[in-house]
Amino acid sequence: MGIERVTDTITHAEDGEEQVIEQSLRPVTFDEYIGQERLKNNLKLAIAAVKKRGDGSTLDHILLYGPPGLGKTTMAGVIAHEMGANLRITSGPAIEHGGDLASILTNLQPGDILFIDEIHRLRKAVSEYLYTAMEDNAIDIMIGKGPAARSVRLDIPPFTLIGATTRTGALTGPLRDRFGIIHRLEYYKIPEIEKIIVRTASILNTEIQPAATALLAERSRLTPRIANRLTKRVRDYADVNGDGIIDQYIAEQSLKLMEIDNLGLDPADRNMLELMLDNYGDRPVGLSTIAALTGDEPPTIEEYYEPYLMQLGLLERTPRGRRVTEKAKRHLSSLH
Ligand code: ADE
Repeated sequence: MGIERVTDTITHAEDGEEQVIEQSLRPVTFDEYIGQERLKNNLKLAIAAVKKRGDGSTLDHILLYGPPGLGKTTMAGVIAHEMGANLRITSGPAIEHGGDLASILTNLQPGDILFIDEIHRLRKAVSEYLYTAMEDNAIDIMIGKGPAARSVRLDIPPFTLIGATTRTGALTGPLRDRFGIIHRLEYYKIPEIEKIIVRTASILNTEIQPAATALLAERSRLTPRIANRLTKRVRDYADVNGDGIIDQYIAEQSLKLMEIDNLGLDPADRNMLELMLDNYGDRPVGLSTIAALTGDEPPTIEEYYEPYLMQLGLLERTPRGRRVTEKAKRHLSSLH
C-alpha cells in the first residue's frame, strides 16, 4: 500500500524542508498518533465496522476540520494504513478543472482513499462533480460543444474521500452533507505536545532533558507541526553551540534567537497585535483592515494567526470586528 501525490502542487503549509521532516516524523498507526482521542475512537470504530462487515464496502467519506498543523494529513495517512488502503493526496487549489478531478477519480483503484487538502478552495464547478462521485460513484462529463454536446456517465471505483479544511464555514452545504463523518481537530494538551516532542527528539536521535521539553511544549502553540519545527531548530542550536544535548539553557537561548516568547508568539503575531493596538487601541478592527496593516491576505489572518490568538484570549471577535484584549496588552507590555 502506498502514498502518492496525484497533483504536483503542494500546499504552502508544507513546502520544502519542513515537508521532508514532517514525513519522517509522522506517526503511521493509531497507537503512534498522540492526542485527538475522541477522533481516534470514532475512527477506530468506523474502521472496525467496515472490516467486520467484510463485504467490500468502504469507509464513509470523512471531513476533518480545524486550525492548520494539528495533524489532518497525518490522520489521513493513519486511516489509510489502518484500512490497508492506498492514499492519494491532492488539494483544492491543485484541481483546476472538472477534467482534472475526473482523471484523478477514474484512476482510483477500488478501496483507495483520496485526500483533498484545503477542500474549501475547490472551485464550485469542480465540487459539483465531486457530489455525484461521492454519492453515486459516478461522474457525468460533457463531451463536445454546442448542439452536439452530450453527457457521458463514467463509473468510479468505490473510494473514501477525506477532505481537510481550516474553515468549515467556507464549505457549501451540499458538499458538507455528503460526508458521513465530520470531525474537528482540537488544539493539543501540553502533556500531549510533550510526548510528541520526546518522540520527535528520539526519531532525530537527540537527547532532550525534561525541563527543555516542558519549555518547548509551552511555546509550541499547542500544535504538533510547530512542536516538531521548534524541536528541529533547537537541535540545530544544540549541535552548533553545545554538545548536541537539548537542555533548558540551550532551549532558552535558541527560542530567544527565534524570537518566540513565553506564549509561543512569534514576531509576526506580535506585529499584528501591535499594529492593531497602535492604530485602533482596543476598538474593533475589520479583517480586511488588519490584512492591510500587516500586508497579509485576509484568509491568512483568519486561518493562521487568529485561531491561536483567540484560543489564548489575546484577540476577541465582536460583531464589529476583531479586538485586542487586556490580556494581550499586558503580555505585550511585559515584553518591553
Ligand atoms: N507528529 C505530528 N503529529 C503527531 C501526533 N499527533 N502524534 C505523534 N506524532 C506526531
